[in-house]
Amino acid sequence: MLSIEPLNQADIPATANLHRQNLRLGLFPKLGRHFLGLYQESFARSPYGIALVARDEDAVVGALFGTTSNAEHYRWVTRNFGSKLALAGCGAMITRPQVALDFARTRAGRYARGVARHIGLLPSVSSASNGAPRPVSVLSHIVTDVNVRRRGIGRRLIEGFADRATVQGVHRALLVTEEGGLGTPFFERLGCRLVGRHKSQDGATLREYRLILDEEGAYEDLDGGRVAYTVVRAYPKRLGAAPSLSQRP
Ligand SMILES: CC(C)(COP(=O)(O)OP(=O)(O)OC[C@H]1O[C@@H](n2cnc3c(N)ncnc32)[C@H](O)[C@@H]1OP(=O)(O)O)[C@@H](O)C(=O)NCCC(=O)NCCS
Repeated sequence: MLSIEPLNQADIPATANLHRQNLRLGLFPKLGRHFLGLYQESFARSPYGIALVARDEDAVVGALFGTTSNAEHYRWVTRNFGSKLALAGCGAMITRPQVALDFARTRAGRYARGVARHIGLLPSVSSASNGAPRPVSVLSHIVTDVNVRRRGIGRRLIEGFADRATVQGVHRALLVTEEGGLGTPFFERLGCRLVGRHKSQDGATLREYRLILDEEGAYEDLDGGRVAYTVVRAYPKRLGAAPSLSQRP
């Protein structure tokens, strides 16, 4: 029987494998299983992270990683996992020179600024901005085993994320997926709303979606104070496609 559970340390070899084989976007999958395992563990340990597995009997058949507050999560990860991740990343790049070159070309500056902010050489983003920004929850990665797709496991993982995030006061989450990838029809089927398109550092076209996690979030403040009904609605127990306009209350 399928269950959705928090990720255990013992699940990590299987979830790192799923990640590496099925989620090709970005730098991290290219850094190998050891790096991915540490990266996934950081979601499981962070107080702002959510790490779930889908288990069928004893087999891990899917995984999801997300945050309830992305900025707090990455601050926590920098403090508590930063050196381990940096060591694992550097170790992986020594044996992957092309990945090292891509990193230097596309990301080294941004990471250096992050470290400088962390050690106080640059002002932190939050202290530089006016007022406290609202926490942003991000659904970072979802993957199911290729042999069990289209059986509702991805949907169950998203429902598990919604259950846990709403308990912590989160009403909506952002997610980014590659245009033309498997995530696009899946997220649209679950009623996610397209909010933007942009290019990644590697040149891929990305789509940014908003996922409403509970009914309370159906009315939300958009565009700096304009209160609008979002056509996207999701249901705590069964996330679904947006209702047609005639079904609106
Ligand atoms: C995206 C992914 C997680 C979906 O997992 P899944 O277990 O197949 O999803 P589900 O079976 O729960 O699908 C939920 C709904 O989306 C639909 N759906 C899922 N994949 C779809 C696809 N490729 N095309 C059209 N519809 C799709 C299902 O039919 C289902 O609709 P229904 O409930 O009305 O029947 C899986 O395809 C995957 O791991 N892809 C590779 C990794 C990836 O691209 N992740 C997303 C970016 S982070």
